[in-house]
Amino acid sequence: MRYTFCVIHFVYLRMPVINPFPVTGYHGPAYFCNRQTETKRLHDNARNGVHSTLLSIRRMGKTGLLNHLFHKLNARRDMYCIYVDIYATLNQTDLLGQLSTAILQTFPPRKGIGKQVMEFITALRPVISYDNLTGKPEVSFHFAQTRQQEQSLGSLLRFLDGLDRPVLLAIDEFQQIATYPEKNTEALLRTLIQPLRNTRFVFSGSSKHVLMEMFSSNKRPFFGSAQLVELKQIPQADYAIFIRQHFASSRRKIDDPSLQFICEWTKLHTYYTQVLCNRLFADGHTKIDLGITQATCSQLLKEQEAHFFQYRNLLTAIQWQTLLAIAKEDKLYQPHARNFITKYRLGTPSNVKRSLEALLSKEMIYQDQDASGNYYRVYDCFLARWLERQ
Ligand SMILES: Nc1ncnc2c1ncn2[C@@H]1O[C@H](COP(=O)(O)OP(=O)(O)O)[C@@H](O)[C@H]1O
Ligand SMILES: [Mg+2]
Repeated sequence: MRYTFCVIHFVYLRMPVINPFPVTGYHGPAYFCNRQTETKRLHDNARNGVHSTLLSIRRMGKTGLLNHLFHKLNARRDMYCIYVDIYATLNQTDLLGQLSTAILQTFPPRKGIGKQVMEFITALRPVISYDNLTGKPEVSFHFAQTRQQEQSLGSLLRFLDGLDRPVLLAIDEFQQIATYPEKNTEALLRTLIQPLRNTRFVFSGSSKHVLMEMFSSNKRPFFGSAQLVELKQIPQADYAIFIRQHFASSRRKIDDPSLQFICEWTKLHTYYTQVLCNRLFADGHTKIDLGITQATCSQLLKEQEAHFFQYRNLLTAIQWQTLLAIAKEDKLYQPHARNFITKYRLGTPSNVKRSLEALLSKEMIYQDQDASGNYYRVYDCFLARWLERQ
């Protein structure tokens, strides 16, 4: 007797799994690791009428943290939160335009307060256009005289200050104001901000040198006007738990050596840690060990190699040599020490000095400090890992 086996293939129409390690934007508290202390600090400051300066190197999580803070504050509905990114602004007129855009986008027009906001901004005689794709309003200004523009900025801030709830205004990439052709922006903002009663600011930025100088030098208008909140690496133990739990929620396992390797290899520079975890997750492994983790790291570097070679074309030979040397040292504390210069054949201390300046201005490296002193480090963690293999 012959049996015919009928094999039934079950086709599971599964929803696509959302990658729990996003690398852009903010996706809610579940996908946001830690930062409790910093969130609380900013929250407390906002509620107690204290301005904050939020500082870290790029891609450490300032914008994410501001989103996270807004998420919490918006749920309470006792404060208006406005976020404005001024990275693209070139002068005070742009700043006013960007700020007005952010305000219009925060308060949808037509209803209640939104109507009031729209009327107020329209009275400043801007050009309002609507983004083709998003339909969101964008505001720009053209002034014949600087005086008009300064007055408009002042009246806009006073208008916000008079709303029915306190306002938290987060200005991201605040160091940008130091590049404006107007030389009095700091003093102007300080004068306009000082009399406000209901508006709290977060000045956020990645140029430590520029912002520290702005807020900590007693010769500058903003001196002592905001509390410094510095964003460092998320503690390794917290990040490791976060990563393990997200893999576990998708019924996947990642072992401890892998977790340790991820944190160390990405130097806990948040964006790079997220990118690596995102890839490990995307690759669909159900059991991740050190071998898989290291192979994934190599793969990531390989994919970016063309990009890294491009950097080399943009630098002089000595700048490239210096960059390579910094990557190999990881943290370079003594750039002018004879043994460092000899070890990497960098010529003279003045060669090194010029290279460091060029690399800093191109944001290929950054300067920071820890318990052992000031150091230089390669900004892009993946580039650093690739360079150290050369
Ligand atoms: N606490 C966090 N947990 C998880 N991912 C984060 C966290 N903070 C930042 N990120 C992610 O890291 C990346 C860089 O963060 P971002 O806020 O843009 O840095 P910055 O504003 O300092 O340049 C973003 O992709 C963001 O999604
Ligand atoms: Mg940012």
